[in-house]
Amino acid sequence: MSEGNFYKGRVAVVTGGGRGFGKAFGTALAARGAHAVLVDIDGKVAEEAAAEIRANGGQATGFGGDVTDEARMAEIMAAAAALGGGGIDILINNAGLHSDEYGQPIFKMGLAKVKRLFDVNVIGVVTCTIAAADYMRGRAGASMVNIASSAGHMGGSAYGDTKLAVSGLTITFARELGPDGVRVNAISPGLMLTETIAAELPPETKARVKAMQMIGDDGKEEHIVDAMLFLTSPQASFVTGEVLRVTGGMAAGV
Ligand SMILES: NC(=O)c1ccc[n+]([C@@H]2O[C@H](COP(=O)([O-])OP(=O)(O)OC[C@H]3O[C@@H](n4cnc5c(N)ncnc54)[C@H](O)[C@@H]3O)[C@@H](O)[C@H]2O)c1
Repeated sequence: MSEGNFYKGRVAVVTGGGRGFGKAFGTALAARGAHAVLVDIDGKVAEEAAAEIRANGGQATGFGGDVTDEARMAEIMAAAAALGGGGIDILINNAGLHSDEYGQPIFKMGLAKVKRLFDVNVIGVVTCTIAAADYMRGRAGASMVNIASSAGHMGGSAYGDTKLAVSGLTITFARELGPDGVRVNAISPGLMLTETIAAELPPETKARVKAMQMIGDDGKEEHIVDAMLFLTSPQASFVTGEVLRVTGGMAAGV
């Protein structure tokens, strides 16, 4: 089966789908024939991203919702499943807090922000996975991709700790959903110049990260989209419970 045909008619839910990686994932999946369901706490950007996909001939629906809101996620997954004749084929757990505000040391951030960071980045993944799982069990070719981070391999930040938990949950959910034919993998991006990062990042940080890479190019959304397309495709049918680092060699390790 060609990769293009594989996505035709499948329902793909992408959290944090209004901008950055999430919008790029939705756009790439819709371009291959999937119905992209974009979920974002900022409902306006989710709707706008979906409208842009539709204007380019793709199928997409935008929903406003917080990934930590159990009732809202249950509602959205039910609506997404209805688009696919009762099922969901792909879930991309991408929504995450990673701005400067949430990248500070714990003692500067304070407990309220640390709690929100773990709630969105970790419990959000659990909430959406639980909400979607019953619609994915037994669907041929069903898979999930969680977005972790190279920060999780490096230690020393609360943000990295949330992403370390995402890597761990990837293995846990792969084990729990494996018998039902649902594969679960993660991508661990290095520094990628999405709009938010490009706007926030001081040039000296960019230079410091680049110096750690083995490949000197800038990391771009397309690199992460390509990894997502591999992990959700039939080419990865024997791959589950893995965390794929896409960092230009920055976070290499054994
Ligand atoms: N850009 C990078 O360099 C990089 C590197 C490693 C990992 N990541 C991870 O990739 C993911 C996406 O990053 P990005 O650069 O595209 O980010 P971004 O900030 O551009 O987009 C994230 C989207 O998620 C949404 N969101 C935030 N909290 C939410 C919530 N509670 N519920 C629903 N939606 C919510 C935001 O509104 C936003 O539209 C994040 O999980 C981030 O931690 C990014």
